[in-house]
Amino acid sequence: MKRLKIVALTMLLGMFASVVRVNAQDVAEGEQIFKNNCAACHNTSAEPLVGPGLQGVGQRRPLDWIVKWVHNPQAVIASGDKYANDLYNKFGKAQMTAYPSYSEAQIKSVLAYIDAQNAAPAAPAAGAAPAAGAAAPAAESNGGMLQYILIALLGVMVLVLVALLSIVTTLSKLASVSAEEAESIPLLQRIAENGKKLAANNAFKTGAALLITLLIGKATIDAAYGVGIHQGYAPEQPIHFSHKLHAGDYQINCGYCHTGVYKGKGANVPSPNICMNCHNTIKRESPEIQKIYRAIEKDEPIQWIRVHNLPDLAYFNHSQHTNVAGLECQNCHGEIQKMEVVEQRSTLTMGWCIDCHRKTDVNTKGNAYYDKLVEIHNKENKEPLKVANIGGLECSKCHY
Ligand code: HEC
Ligand code: HEC
Ligand code: HEC
Ligand code: HEC
Ligand code: HEC
Ligand code: HEC
Repeated sequence: MKRLKIVALTMLLGMFASVVRVNAQDVAEGEQIFKNNCAACHNTSAEPLVGPGLQGVGQRRPLDWIVKWVHNPQAVIASGDKYANDLYNKFGKAQMTAYPSYSEAQIKSVLAYIDAQNAAPAAPAAGAAPAAGAAAPAAESNGGMLQYILIALLGVMVLVLVALLSIVTTLSKLASVSAEEAESIPLLQRIAENGKKLAANNAFKTGAALLITLLIGKATIDAAYGVGIHQGYAPEQPIHFSHKLHAGDYQINCGYCHTGVYKGKGANVPSPNICMNCHNTIKRESPEIQKIYRAIEKDEPIQWIRVHNLPDLAYFNHSQHTNVAGLECQNCHGEIQKMEVVEQRSTLTMGWCIDCHRKTDVNTKGNAYYDKLVEIHNKENKEPLKVANIGGLECSKCHY
């Protein structure tokens, strides 16, 4: 009987461990690999980005094909593989990066992560984030959701474990007891009592607490790895300058201070001289304004801390988006005119740029440059001309 108990316990723990391992460790590893490498070009949903949406790819393609493909996509295309060539042509001959160093197990973990993302009921599809920057946080909550589901699952499993163990204990005790005694207390009541005893057992409690702590710890570390995405970044600035006051209450035009924003690549952060247009008379005595005076006296720039910052490999031009496309600053920066302290509202990832280029119509009105293009486009296409149609998905447009 004792042996039976040990076997049952081992089996349960094994089941428990394997579920947690498959769900938490593999999925977490897959998530990290995916976010670091694949998310620039793929959604976990069915929505295409630079490459196809990867929902269900593990079911639609055999594993050994996927492994070969990830290791060297160009080799698979060159081998004459029909599926690969059709896909390659469908995606405008965009070349996927090769990842020769990932093991089959690691690629499987990416597939597990993709499946988990699609299984999680409340997780919104990353690609479905609307163009407006304010809606972008949806993409980030994906991973967090999964962790909560896992923790809830763990809780349920601890309960199941307690119930099963008490059944086993009761049955094994029953075997060594006389018949009358066994009948005097109903079986269910015995099980319940043993359950209580077990739950009160210190070693058991410590074990369960330890497991849960480990899992939460891991979730936290994973979250911290939100890798290179600074959404929500709002550093404290050297002077308490408020956009809510200047751009909101006093309605000073954004371009008055950000002098390059309609004309050039950079928007520019204003020099102290621009502040002085007003503050040589307004609130001179304020200690915050005195900081502007000091900067001018010492002929030093104010050390504003940069909030939005793309890596050097990416090229972004403001006038193309504000002046040519006619977009509002708020599309990308959120409601700056309501912020006391500037905060980065959009993710500024490649997926974010691409997503908008897929969805946004080109502003062709009153722009003779586009007349001919629109004419050609309308001949073969009913959809309005999107940024994607004028080359907005070409690598070289955004990368030097
Ligand atoms: C630079 C963009 C880019 C990156 C990064 C990228 N891919 Fe791709 N991927 C593509 C493109 C584009 C295609 C479509 C085929 C083509 O044009 O070569 C594709 C196709 C695929 C396919 C086939 C999909 C299908 O529907 O059959 C899989 C699987 C895949 N990629 C997995 C990955 C994985 C896993 C990673 C990360 C380790 C990754 N990709 C990173 C661009 C990318
Ligand atoms: C009176 C001058 C002034 C006006 C008007 C103004 N700004 Fe600014 N803006 C600044 C200064 C100074 C900073 C740097 C300090 C900070 O981040 O608060 C800044 C910072 C920013 C940043 C962050 C820059 C970075 O480092 O990434 C954005 C985005 C921005 N402004 C957008 C706007 C928008 C949009 C408007 C109009 C709704 C606007 N600003 C109006 C002065 C101004
Ligand atoms: C077009 C006019 C104008 C410009 C340009 C301007 N400000 Fe102001 N600023 C104001 C007004 C108006 C107030 C509100 C004064 C009040 O509360 O009486 C103000 C208030 C402030 C305050 C709050 C002061 C306090 O103690 O209450 C700070 C700090 C400030 N501005 C910083 C700046 C900086 C830094 C710049 C340059 C980047 C700048 N301002 C440019 C008009 C301007
Ligand atoms: C299509 C999206 C988009 C729009 C629209 C947009 N910005 Fe930006 N903005 C960005 C990105 C991306 C960066 C980061 C650029 C970089 O690091 O090279 C940025 C950076 C900035 C900065 C930091 C300084 C700089 O030049 O890099 C300021 C200030 C700024 N924007 C102001 C504005 C203002 C004001 C408007 C509206 C008139 C505006 N932006 C419209 C995407 C946008
Ligand atoms: C809110 C939507 C939006 C976002 C976000 C956005 N763009 Fe754009 N982008 C546009 C539109 C609209 C145009 C078309 C402008 C025109 O008519 O030339 C455009 C055009 C471009 C072009 C010129 C394309 C061509 O074929 O001439 C480049 C390059 C570009 N964007 C880079 C970026 C980068 C880099 C990012 C991300 C950091 C980004 N964009 C984010 C809307 C967006
Ligand atoms: C509309 C603009 C745009 C287009 C088109 C574009 N990229 Fe990017 N790409 C970006 C931006 C912006 C980043 C930086 C994102 C970040 O910092 O998270 C980036 C980052 C990358 C990175 C680095 C990824 C990382 O996580 O560090 C690679 C590799 C890359 N792009 C490859 C490509 C390839 C290949 C293509 C063509 C199939 C392409 N990009 C098309 C805007 C673009």
